[in-house]
Amino acid sequence: MAKLAIIGGTGITSLPGMQIDRKRAVHTPYGEPSGPVTYGQYCDITMMFLPRHGYGHNIPPHQINYRANLWCLEHLGVDTVLAFASVGSIHPDMQPGDLVIPHQLIDYTWGRSHTFFEQGQGDRAESVAHIDFTEPYCGRLRDSLLKAGDNTDLRIHKQGVYAATQGPRLETAAEIDRFERDGCDLVGMTGMPEASLARELNMCYATCAVVANAAAGRGTGEISMDEVESNMKIGLDNARVLLAALLPLV
Ligand code: HPA
Repeated sequence: MAKLAIIGGTGITSLPGMQIDRKRAVHTPYGEPSGPVTYGQYCDITMMFLPRHGYGHNIPPHQINYRANLWCLEHLGVDTVLAFASVGSIHPDMQPGDLVIPHQLIDYTWGRSHTFFEQGQGDRAESVAHIDFTEPYCGRLRDSLLKAGDNTDLRIHKQGVYAATQGPRLETAAEIDRFERDGCDLVGMTGMPEASLARELNMCYATCAVVANAAAGRGTGEISMDEVESNMKIGLDNARVLLAALLPLV
């Protein structure tokens, strides 16, 4: 049976409905994770939970210690990670409140500590490794998510190319045009290096993206935070329905 952890994104600093057993702080060779890991039951399934931005939602995307987060989950025996992430939509079919299970990504981030294979640091520093990343997300978990989605009437897009940006600012309209020319369908700030670090640790990792807004230049006027927040409320309710449908399948 998989040992599952949920990484919560914007708006998911806790999992309402999760029966909490305890929290465990882990110190890693890479520094501190975003917070202690919560152990508990959701829909009677045992799992762990870690909010990427911290329990107080105070860590911006470029300052998240992605290495510590993934290392700590692996250290606790996790082999399967479902990451929730808020995104802006580039593809016109992807509407605010929709869920997307991306199948590919392009990494536009820079300057983030993005690998465990670094000389002089951590316990994997001695070897040079080039992980295969042809398919950046775990097929097994994606299939389960899609099957779970079929058991609901949620609006779920079965694939999409995720553009990972540096943040914390939102993009310009021209940047979004460029991402679209590159083949991207959705844009977010936290998808990398989380996905590749999970792969370096041989974890099964997939993302459920929650569309918070139309990306820059794709909606009407500026992106308003009020609009983002109200869309996220709808999207997160949808994400919880999907999670409940998923858990019996993993
Ligand atoms: N861009 C980048 N990240 C995001 C967005 C966006 O428009 N919306 C939510 N996360």
